[in-house]
Amino acid sequence: MSNVTIISHNITEIFIVWGILMSNYNIVVTSAFGLEACVKRELKELGYDSLRTEDGSISFVGDERDIAICNLWIRSGSRVLIKLAEFEAGTFEELFQGVYGIDWQNIIPKNGKFTINGKSARSQLSSVPACQSVAEKAVIKKLQTRYNIDRFQKSGERFIIRVALNKDMASVTLDTSGDPLYRRGYRRAIGEAPLKETMAAGIIELSYWNRDRLLLDPCCGSGTFLTEAALMAKNIAPGLRREFDFEKWSFFDSHSLKEERERAEALIDRDFSPKLYGSDIDAKVIELAKENAAAAGVADCIDFSCKPFSDVVLPCDYGVCITNPPYGERMGSLSDIEKLYGDFGRLFSRNDTWSAYFLTSHEGFEKLYGHKAVKKRKLFNGNVKVDLYQYPGRRPPKP
Ligand SMILES: C[S@@+](CC[C@H](N)C(=O)[O-])C[C@H]1O[C@@H](n2cnc3c(N)ncnc32)[C@H](O)[C@@H]1O
Repeated sequence: MSNVTIISHNITEIFIVWGILMSNYNIVVTSAFGLEACVKRELKELGYDSLRTEDGSISFVGDERDIAICNLWIRSGSRVLIKLAEFEAGTFEELFQGVYGIDWQNIIPKNGKFTINGKSARSQLSSVPACQSVAEKAVIKKLQTRYNIDRFQKSGERFIIRVALNKDMASVTLDTSGDPLYRRGYRRAIGEAPLKETMAAGIIELSYWNRDRLLLDPCCGSGTFLTEAALMAKNIAPGLRREFDFEKWSFFDSHSLKEERERAEALIDRDFSPKLYGSDIDAKVIELAKENAAAAGVADCIDFSCKPFSDVVLPCDYGVCITNPPYGERMGSLSDIEKLYGDFGRLFSRNDTWSAYFLTSHEGFEKLYGHKAVKKRKLFNGNVKVDLYQYPGRRPPKP
């Protein structure tokens, strides 16, 4: 692997960030729109200080162990990438040369299954398929300097290369996670309109909930909020039960991942029992929720029951409700949904020690609930714009 290299050629100047002192990488943790602050806070809690925040990502310099730690422990982030290069690319030639400048032959083996994933915003090179094709040609040409073959079989380990253009600047990254981080490996069954696990974790982090407070999701569907809260309460690393692409890369030292997996296993707080309650009107999704919680190893932490919201009784003071109620006609009749929102408002405004958080795309939520939210945060559930309506309650007295 080469050290930091500044390659100058007549088209542009390329700064290759790959292989600083063999094991220092520019690590980029990506996040969904609106969750950057959650990812940053998590990274700080993991002990990382010199963080650079950009729209949709937080970056820092770290080594192979840091890549293992982030993949295992980050709850609200989407992926962990290594930035390989950043350069100006206003033309296809510049894009080709920039990608060709990376030492692909030291990264991808002869049978490596590499794919190029492109995106482009506010750039002259606006055709994503054309950019992907140019980048792929550059990777192949560079690999051919080492492997004397015309066609690459791509039968081996996966390497997802991301080429993102923004305002004519190209950033080339390698995806260490592979499958996105929301795929924790515990979701056996999918309910209707399930939330991504990373989004659920971020919303919990934005709330007043902590593991000593009761959490209720009265429209819990497949139980994503509750399962994520259980993982947090028991200090279970969200990535502990899944694999990552980087652990199969031959140039990568997977020893630190093995050690970090063992450390994460030892850090599980097996004796702690959080108070987590989930209910839903649909008996089938309650069964799915139970299956998912069991697969995540937290079935004994969550009390699931089948009932409509109108039968929910708040079991104590100072609890926290986080829920993603139905919001479109596909999920029920609009009049039922609107009545449900009114029922939420009546129950929680009578109980001002409760903090309540609702994630919905229904624009009329506050009116139907009967109160303006203290805070509102715009997020995206997939491609659907949603808002998190926040009604924080009184703080519990100090013990
Ligand atoms: C958007 S989904 C929740 C998805 C959930 N966050 C997940 O991750 O799977 C809304 C849920 O509200 C439930 N629901 C609809 N009306 C209800 C009511 N009146 N009382 C309780 N649950 C209800 C639906 O059965 C559905 O599972």
